[in-house]
Amino acid sequence: MVLLCVVCHVFVLVLCLSSAEDFDWTKNSHSSFYYGTFPAGFSWGAGSSAYQTEGAWDKDGKGLSIWDVFSHKKGKIQQNDTGDSSCEGYHKVKDDVSLMKELKLNHYRFSISWPRLIPTGIKSDHINEKGIQYYDELINHLLESKITPIVTLYHWDLPQVLQEKYGGWQNISMVNHFNEFASLCFEKFGNRVKYWNTFNNPWSVAVEGYETGEHAPGVRLRGTGAYRAAHHIIKAHAKVWHTYDTQWRGKQKGLVGISLSGDWGEPVDISNQKDIEAAERYVQFYLGWFATPIFHGDYPQVMKDFIGRKSNQQGLGTSRLPTFSPQEKSYIKGTCDFLGLGHFTTRYITQKNNPSVRSSSSYFTDRDLAELVDPRWPDPGSEWLYSVPWGFRRLLNFVKSQYGNPMIYVTENGVSEKMLCTELCDDWRIQYYKDYINEMLKAIKDGVNVKGYTAWSLLDKFEWDEGYSERFGLYYVDFRNKNKPRYPKASVQFYKRVISSNGFPNQREVENWRRKAVETCSSSNQLLAAEEQRSSAANILRLIHDPLTSHMEMVTEIVVPTVCTLSILLSAVFLMFLLRRRN
Ligand code: NOJ
Repeated sequence: MVLLCVVCHVFVLVLCLSSAEDFDWTKNSHSSFYYGTFPAGFSWGAGSSAYQTEGAWDKDGKGLSIWDVFSHKKGKIQQNDTGDSSCEGYHKVKDDVSLMKELKLNHYRFSISWPRLIPTGIKSDHINEKGIQYYDELINHLLESKITPIVTLYHWDLPQVLQEKYGGWQNISMVNHFNEFASLCFEKFGNRVKYWNTFNNPWSVAVEGYETGEHAPGVRLRGTGAYRAAHHIIKAHAKVWHTYDTQWRGKQKGLVGISLSGDWGEPVDISNQKDIEAAERYVQFYLGWFATPIFHGDYPQVMKDFIGRKSNQQGLGTSRLPTFSPQEKSYIKGTCDFLGLGHFTTRYITQKNNPSVRSSSSYFTDRDLAELVDPRWPDPGSEWLYSVPWGFRRLLNFVKSQYGNPMIYVTENGVSEKMLCTELCDDWRIQYYKDYINEMLKAIKDGVNVKGYTAWSLLDKFEWDEGYSERFGLYYVDFRNKNKPRYPKASVQFYKRVISSNGFPNQREVENWRRKAVETCSSSNQLLAAEEQRSSAANILRLIHDPLTSHMEMVTEIVVPTVCTLSILLSAVFLMFLLRRRN
């Protein structure tokens, strides 16, 4: 009996070890472009999220979300933008599905707005039939067009009532409320939806929502808020996975995963052990924070060590990182049928000791590291987003080695441009997609189990605290026009070719695609420019009728030129006077 136990124990140990191999930090080969195709059946898609695109924030019985409330507070969002109407996606299901058909997408990733379905977030209060109808319509249109829906249950828009009543993700009661919402979605849509992401990028929810407060609900609980929110999110994810597994999987035969985000962290010096450890900490505090409990049952050891030690030095009785009970660990472990992965950029990482002062404790200082960037990395849009394609391959290989080579769907990857840039010929975006998709292809050759790729995003949209100032879309959206018309950028043509060839057949062809894409976009560019001129002319006309702006125009058009002319005349008279005196 004892012998049997020992054998089993060794067997389990070997299994655990074999699912978390060592990642080789010391090898980073930047190989040249790889021409080749993806495995047959590889799924190509594009994505969006409810609050970022739907608009219709108060239509048809929808309840308020924390983003509705947050964006209406002055000073929280660039230019005080809101998602009130955004792309009007709620009213443009047919149009948008046509764009997806044009791209020949295999899947479309979108999220369901919890308060659109359950206005207060509490299922027993009220279910909004109109909300159900909207998602029904979207799903049906997608399926009629042979586009697989990949649905996210939580892309950050918590019902406001749950925030006000319970403190949102700071409170354990969210686990049950979220589970009820998820069950409703399985019940209503699960006959047609087979891919579910419980959460999108919970890192952001925890850190930016409850630690720094840059995102809704804008709570600032440094050093504790993010860890507590994440703890409840992980439990909620596990509960929903179990609900699906026990109550729906038999009938519906779908998959439930989670979409995690991770920037890659590369050691500044790959021959320096301290840098390697710091880079690994960076990745563990980012992706590993959520992935390790879900695949292995508990937080990464390095998080437990660092946060535990610092909490101790700060005189706290327990760690600021909450703990899972043994029952919780086994309940959470393995609750992932596929891993959704969102990835945009990379940082160089080096070791940096932060003093353990209680007053300045935070998620960021807990990690004892510094982030650096190479000034040569292109950064066309968002200030945090540098294009570093090789980091993507590194991250994918890291996932393979750490979590037992899970099935991966890339749920977000893309690049933005700055607001004032109404350029449809987005050559730099083509370059970004080309290189990142190619690194993913190399990762597949390395043996990483990637099944699908989602370009982020289908449309320009509300970019959270950046408002509309950063555009990620394959399609340009004219937000100044009430109808929110969409225009294809050059990257649409390029991505379409990648999809139809299932990869990169050969150099000549790929370069041709790029050339053609840039050629065709110039006519759309002209169209857009003409349209914009028309709308700015209309704006000027509108302004002339506005008394305040007419007054300002009078200042700029009459007063300023008059003052200028007078000063020139006076200077001339003064000059003549001086010349006369000299004579
Ligand atoms: C990740 C978020 O999930 C998504 O909503 C956002 O648009 C992208 N990051 C780009 O910032």
